[in-house]
Amino acid sequence: MRDQNEQNPGQKIAIVGGGLMGHGIAYLFAAAGHQVAVFEPATELLATLSKRLRAIADLLDDDPALLNNIAAYDTIAPAMRGAAFVFEAAPEKLPLKQQIFAELESLVAPDTILASNSSAIPSTVIGRHLAHRERVIGTHFWNPPHLVPLVEVIQNEMTSEQVVRRTMALLRDAGKTPVHVRRDVPGFVGNRLQHAMKREAIALVAAGVCDAETIDTVVKAGFGARTAVLGPMEQTDLVGVDLTFDIAAVLYQHLDCTPGPHPLLRDKVAAGKLGMKTGEGLRRWTPEQADAVRTRLSRFLAEQAKARKKNLT
Ligand SMILES: NC(=O)c1ccc[n+]([C@@H]2O[C@H](COP(=O)([O-])OP(=O)(O)OC[C@H]3O[C@@H](n4cnc5c(N)ncnc54)[C@H](O)[C@@H]3O)[C@@H](O)[C@H]2O)c1
Repeated sequence: MRDQNEQNPGQKIAIVGGGLMGHGIAYLFAAAGHQVAVFEPATELLATLSKRLRAIADLLDDDPALLNNIAAYDTIAPAMRGAAFVFEAAPEKLPLKQQIFAELESLVAPDTILASNSSAIPSTVIGRHLAHRERVIGTHFWNPPHLVPLVEVIQNEMTSEQVVRRTMALLRDAGKTPVHVRRDVPGFVGNRLQHAMKREAIALVAAGVCDAETIDTVVKAGFGARTAVLGPMEQTDLVGVDLTFDIAAVLYQHLDCTPGPHPLLRDKVAAGKLGMKTGEGLRRWTPEQADAVRTRLSRFLAEQAKARKKNLT
């Protein structure tokens, strides 16, 4: 059953931090018909906000008039006033997030939901010193948040069931695919799965089994080609749990279980081989090749987002 609040289509949504994630989150709620207020303290980021939002509207062939639903602020108090939800997308630093949440408590109503977009810091810890901890929740959007459907909604040990329901409803009504993560475990679900695969991929390259380009080809042309329509649990049931058991019995003992980051990663970081931004990471990149990857990804995600929107109308 949904609460009365859950059915309000036009709520005030406040965003703390108008950077990479914050501006995309602001966009998606504005596109869903909400009134959005963004607090961004850095003058240079605030100055580029409307241009960055306009670029999303152009990418998605949306009517730029929807941007009238977004107001930008350089101070926090007026941005938060009357908000039903606050989504915090400030830098990934625990003391900063704790300070922001403490301030939020003095600025919003006791039932305003306070959601953190932290990639890794448990909202249990972020909200530890608050008086109303039942309204603190994790909402892990994926980059870019206006294009990737998934949002992990992470219930911490103090989050109430009602807050989970209201948050899931808001996101679902905004066209996202929210999932309920029942415990505030490090990495939540998506990053645990993603990094389990990266751990093995890096170990295979380090052991000389194949090069980094081959890993990408194996994923993209192999199981990745079906992953968007067939999750690993569905795939296991499709081929049979017994087959998965037999493979696991032979294979799992050979999989990498290096505790902590693999030495290959440490060596790359120490050598300044940080990826596309330095021209070399696990693979080598010219600026043109790096741009081509970014363009390919952005176009692919935008086409999928447009197709989803078309199917809804
Ligand atoms: N980048 C990603 O792929 C990604 C994905 C999922 C989650 N996240 C998480 O989202 C959060 C934001 O990440 P991002 O990539 O958007 O970072 P970002 O650096 O692009 O944006 C952070 C913004 O917060 C602003 N800021 C700084 N101090 C602030 C304060 N006291 N109050 C309000 N705003 C402040 C900064 O000026 C900046 O514009 C982080 O917790 C990050 O871990 C990032």
